[in-house]
Amino acid sequence: MKRTLSALALAFMLCFTANASVNIIPAPGKIVEGKGEFVLKGNAVIGYNDASISEAATYLKEIIAPATGFDLRTRQGSGTINLELSFPADPQDESYTLKVTRKKVFIKARSYKGIAYGIASLRQLLPKEIESKRFLPGRSWTVPVVEVEDAPAYEWRGLMLDPVRHFYSVEETKNLLDLMALYKFSKFHWHLIDSNGWRIEIKAFPLLTSIGAWRDPKNEYIDNACNDSFEKTGDAAMQVPAKFMKVDENGKLVYGGFYTQEEIRDIVHYAAVRGIDVVPEMDFPGHSYAEIRCYPWLSCHGDGHEPLCLGNDKVIDFCKKVFDEVFDLFPYEYVEIGGDEVSRDRWTGCELCQERIAKEGLKDVAELQAWFTREMEKYFNAAGRKLVGWDEILDGGVSPTATVNWWRSDPVTFKKAAVNGNQVIMCPTSHCYFDYAQDAMTIQRLYCDDLIPATLTAEERKLIKGMQGNIWGEFIPTESRMQTMAFPRAIALAEKAWTPVDRHDYDDFLLRLTEQVKRLDVMEVDYRPLDSSFTPGFNAGIR
Ligand code: ACM
Ligand code: ZN
Repeated sequence: MKRTLSALALAFMLCFTANASVNIIPAPGKIVEGKGEFVLKGNAVIGYNDASISEAATYLKEIIAPATGFDLRTRQGSGTINLELSFPADPQDESYTLKVTRKKVFIKARSYKGIAYGIASLRQLLPKEIESKRFLPGRSWTVPVVEVEDAPAYEWRGLMLDPVRHFYSVEETKNLLDLMALYKFSKFHWHLIDSNGWRIEIKAFPLLTSIGAWRDPKNEYIDNACNDSFEKTGDAAMQVPAKFMKVDENGKLVYGGFYTQEEIRDIVHYAAVRGIDVVPEMDFPGHSYAEIRCYPWLSCHGDGHEPLCLGNDKVIDFCKKVFDEVFDLFPYEYVEIGGDEVSRDRWTGCELCQERIAKEGLKDVAELQAWFTREMEKYFNAAGRKLVGWDEILDGGVSPTATVNWWRSDPVTFKKAAVNGNQVIMCPTSHCYFDYAQDAMTIQRLYCDDLIPATLTAEERKLIKGMQGNIWGEFIPTESRMQTMAFPRAIALAEKAWTPVDRHDYDDFLLRLTEQVKRLDVMEVDYRPLDSSFTPGFNAGIR
């Protein structure tokens, strides 16, 4: 990894590459540039060799249509642009090859995802204006002759979004998925419930959304803090949007929203077409005020305080019924249980929780949470699902088959997970919390620092499933603010997670990023400009 770059060298390289046409991020494994170019015309046909990838052809057609005005034909069979599933197909194999000749384009892969990632590379080889939502007549749509061979270093290349603390519409969520697809992210971790709101329609418990999805913004610290920031700075991106407010049946102005099951299915499908799995998170048993507010019997003594009462069988049944509907909505095998920041002391004074501890032969309240996680994991497994949780699920003992979101930046916890045999997704607060203020060093640290503790053996390193950026929403009330906080650093994470470490080159990345942000300009993404030294993040230090 190179870290140093003199100002002179940077200026020279920026001039040199300003019009370079091959600036793919994440950097592909192998790229061979040829001579000449392919010119995309309106009579081009997108061919695919197997019905299971027909949606990829439609997806590519839809990428191309707005700016070019081309209504490209798609068909099973050969075309000008050819999408080819290689057999035997293997859904786990995310590699692809992309070959551009003067006459044709070929994308080959052994999985739908591989095809989608090949499309992402082709998209980045087209002029940046291809991203325009408006028709741009009279342009030539060229792709350089090139051959690419590519495969990801890690299968889990994730972004987490928190629509609880502040809500984002279906359209805004899809916009993020579009950006993720452009950089070959593979997992969208969707933090759908937390104390400040419940955002997923659950038919068995209607109050969760009729009551739990709404709050009084005047009584909510995070809403007041955002609006105060707007008043002080005039930055409209910090104002809690009126579009997510309504007058409730008592005549009170409330803020919130939720996704209907139909909307969720639509988002899951939208993501899948782009090569992204959606991983829903039901944050149990802490962060649970939203559901307790609706159904106080979920709490110890029914007194309306967090966390869920794990001594009460009815509460365990509630969680299972919620997961039944979640499993039905989200086809991807991994589902998140949450498990972070639980006020376990409350269980000490609860007779039902103490009875559970005695009956199950548990030592303490940490083991009570571990018992709950194991019970849920059994339930998940019986439904063919796998459990992921924040790294607190390691406290009190967790089964080695659970996957851990390592977030507290403690190398000892990371090692503990690895020794126990748990797969680990790296998303430490030290590098991957995209709600934290970003300064001039953020991208460099994220790109260049090794997140893996030196204490891990080679065998333990194989347990690392990937990495993820977390976009917590407390101080991100709008899509514009979300984009400013997450981009461009999410692009650095994308390369870190996709490109093998021996091919990481920070200087080269910066040069390609300089080109990439011009593409973001066309997409009208409110990313943090590369030359600003600091994005005010008044949330720094709050969380
Ligand atoms: C977390 O940031 N509480 C996982
Ligand atoms: Zn209890």
